Amino acid sequence: MARVRVLILGGSWFLGRTIAEQAVSRGDDVTTFRRGRSGSDVDGVTTVRGDRTNSDDLARLAEAGDWDLVIDTSSFVPRETLQLARVLEPVAARYLLISTVSVYEGWPVEPLTEASPVLECPSDAGPDYGYDGDPGPSTYGFGKAGCERAVLEVFGDDRATILRPGVILGPMEYVGRLEWWLRRMQRGGRVLAPGRPERSIQPVDVRDVAKFALGPELTGTFNVTAPGRETMGDLLNVCRSVTGSTAALEWVTDEEWLAAQGIRQWTELPLWRTYKGAWKVDSQHARDAGFSARPVRETAADTWAWLTGGGAAIDHERASELGISPEREQSILGLWDAAQLDHCGAE
Ligand SMILES: NC(=O)c1ccc[n+]([C@@H]2O[C@H](COP(=O)([O-])OP(=O)(O)OC[C@H]3O[C@@H](n4cnc5c(N)ncnc54)[C@H](OP(=O)(O)O)[C@@H]3O)[C@@H](O)[C@H]2O)c1
Repeated sequence: MARVRVLILGGSWFLGRTIAEQAVSRGDDVTTFRRGRSGSDVDGVTTVRGDRTNSDDLARLAEAGDWDLVIDTSSFVPRETLQLARVLEPVAARYLLISTVSVYEGWPVEPLTEASPVLECPSDAGPDYGYDGDPGPSTYGFGKAGCERAVLEVFGDDRATILRPGVILGPMEYVGRLEWWLRRMQRGGRVLAPGRPERSIQPVDVRDVAKFALGPELTGTFNVTAPGRETMGDLLNVCRSVTGSTAALEWVTDEEWLAAQGIRQWTELPLWRTYKGAWKVDSQHARDAGFSARPVRETAADTWAWLTGGGAAIDHERASELGISPEREQSILGLWDAAQLDHCGAE
């Protein structure tokens, strides 16, 4: 049987790299296209060096085709994606875009399905299209929505696949959300655990997203999130156990009280968000098409093994957004203790 020919736009770290590793290990003929700045190439891939914003580089890339499948992990600016898709259309059978749940108008406030309204963004928009709101929308979400539109315009519904992952975790995660919790548990002591432990969450393992991207010849649009059977309590407890920590989780269950302390949601306490839609993204459509999500224990254990096994944490600008300082954490826990005592005293 002929080897499947896959082109990965990106392919050197986190999701792109995981896709490249899986594609090589299943015997595909894999090409990656990137500038040569982030991460490193996976053994066994053919690399075409170039910049996706440079038309000469794109023409050179197209000469290296044909491909059965293009997987684009690095689209953020619609007009660049439009140009890229036009150049690749004659030499690619199918184009799979890694998008995001941030394209939804209602993210993170409302529960979402693939039928929920998406932000309006033209397919030829530049990098600054849209605006940043709090809690949303974001220029990132507008840009991704425009990239989706660009791919669909060029490849059509029958040759385009759009994946909209929620939060992606796992080995090589450069944003560092799970890493932060793992290292926090390792440090021990009283840990500020935000919200209710039974709150369901939907982070998805990078390897499961990669497997789905390389999976059956799907077309259409798919949310890619865990089904929501696991909880924040499960996540923090597995972080505690895989690091061998004796930390004590102190659940600050009054989210309004916690938010009123001025904590930046999503970043200062990674993965904590009070909005009711944050972990309510329906992924039944993807599961019907073969997507399956591994337990968060496996994600946490393997990420810890990566972090402690010489897989140096990736130095990425976004990692500096994360985490609460030890002093602030303990001061908030002190205030929470006092608020609890007041509450008991008042009863
Ligand atoms: N992390 C999450 O929780 C999350 C959630 C939802 C969706 N997503 C989406 O998932 C994707 C993550 O992809 P990723 O982890 O593979 O990393 P990424 O940071 O999105 O992509 C980086 C890759 O693209 C290449 N690249 C960047 N700029 C380039 C340019 N101008 N020309 C050519 N290549 C370029 C980089 O290599 P060089 O620097 O060497 O060029 C690198 O290989 C993104 O699309 C993101 O929006 C992420």
